[in-house]
Amino acid sequence: MLKTLAVANYRSINKLVIPLQRLNLITGPNGSGKSNLYKALRLLAETAQGGVVNALASEGGLESTFWAGPEQISRRMSRGEVAIQGGPRKTAKRLQLGFAGEDFGYSIGLGLPDSSGHFMLPGHSTPIPSRFTLDPRIKRESIWSGPVYRPASVLVDRQGPMVRAREGRQWEVLAQHTSSGDSLFDQVGNLRSSPEVLHLREQIRGWRFYDHFRTDSQAPARRPQLGTRTPVLHHDGRDLAAALQTIIEVGDQQALRETISDAFPGSRLEIDAVPGGLFGVQFYQDGLLRSLSAAELSDGTLRYLLLVAALLTPRPPTLMVLNEPETSLHPDLLPALARLIIRASQQCQVWVVSHASRLIAALQQDPQCNAIVLEKNFGQTEIVGQGMLDEPAWHWPD
Ligand SMILES: Nc1ncnc2c1ncn2[C@@H]1O[C@H](COP(=O)(O)OP(=O)(O)OP(=O)(O)O)[C@@H](O)[C@H]1O
Ligand SMILES: [Mg+2]
Repeated sequence: MLKTLAVANYRSINKLVIPLQRLNLITGPNGSGKSNLYKALRLLAETAQGGVVNALASEGGLESTFWAGPEQISRRMSRGEVAIQGGPRKTAKRLQLGFAGEDFGYSIGLGLPDSSGHFMLPGHSTPIPSRFTLDPRIKRESIWSGPVYRPASVLVDRQGPMVRAREGRQWEVLAQHTSSGDSLFDQVGNLRSSPEVLHLREQIRGWRFYDHFRTDSQAPARRPQLGTRTPVLHHDGRDLAAALQTIIEVGDQQALRETISDAFPGSRLEIDAVPGGLFGVQFYQDGLLRSLSAAELSDGTLRYLLLVAALLTPRPPTLMVLNEPETSLHPDLLPALARLIIRASQQCQVWVVSHASRLIAALQQDPQCNAIVLEKNFGQTEIVGQGMLDEPAWHWPD
């Protein structure tokens, strides 16, 4: 389970250290930084898939994702005695992302190339000149044991192209020419002697994100699909019928039945397999003479079924992230959705970003719910009520 998430210099997040529990609820007004925090978590996940550099490019490049405010907002600036202004930077400009659980922590720092524009490529022992001067470079990565970084607890450390692992009291150099676009996790093959890298990579790869399922008429979830056993719903919901059938066969069938009738009293669900192996959802509603297929369901009903399939997964991930799951659901459905989310949080760590007051109120009924309210203060995302003392311990390696 993640205990701490730390983000620095990413969009509206100048510096943020968040304590996490089993069920985490992120709320706050428009523009407070909820989506930015969600995106930061996604970027961390991309690191373990080998895609952090491309993910940053698709967001408009590293430079545009840097916090656009001053490095420090001084007391005099915050009291309005002087204008908000930037001075000369005290530290190098880095986007930093990190997390820690009880056993291990990980952090990554990304920056722009130095002014020479040279770039380290695999197979080259010296940097080569490059025109890709906007490519983010991974400057530093560390894996440490325990919840907080300390130089003495570092297990694997990457500085620029050099990766080292601690061997007792010595450091062993594992790689000297790591490409500045590759993370530690891309090097697992070369880092056999460091099981922590593999362990953390598998942990991060297990994170599951669900963000705005499509429900338009062409949405993947509306089309029948070839049915293969599906313990994990695809993030676009294309295998909805197979995922629901998998829950019926090997998951909690009773919970599935209950959650459907909790949300739509008098309704039930069946999956039919047509010749050719295609699976389709059949939804039986009170008052209708025949069932409705996924193509005929309302947006809200379909989205609810997608959330049900995601949350009742027979193979819970280490972390499940739901971004604004309330979209297009009627407020009356939200208490049922909250019960489903609370139930899932008993199987895996859950992170929910939400605006919907009924969902928020219903989730907060759970005493385990860690409600984090964001606000923007001088353009910076902050946690409402978090004083210096409430902030979990966190140190960046740099
Ligand atoms: N590079 C940047 N530096 C500073 N602030 C930024 C940067 N990029 C975006 N922002 C700010 O981040 C805010 C957007 O945050 P975000 O999209 O996370 O809001 P949100 O809480 O998800 O809001 P909503 O409820 O409307 O979805 C905007 O106010 C925008 O001004
Ligand atoms: Mg948002």
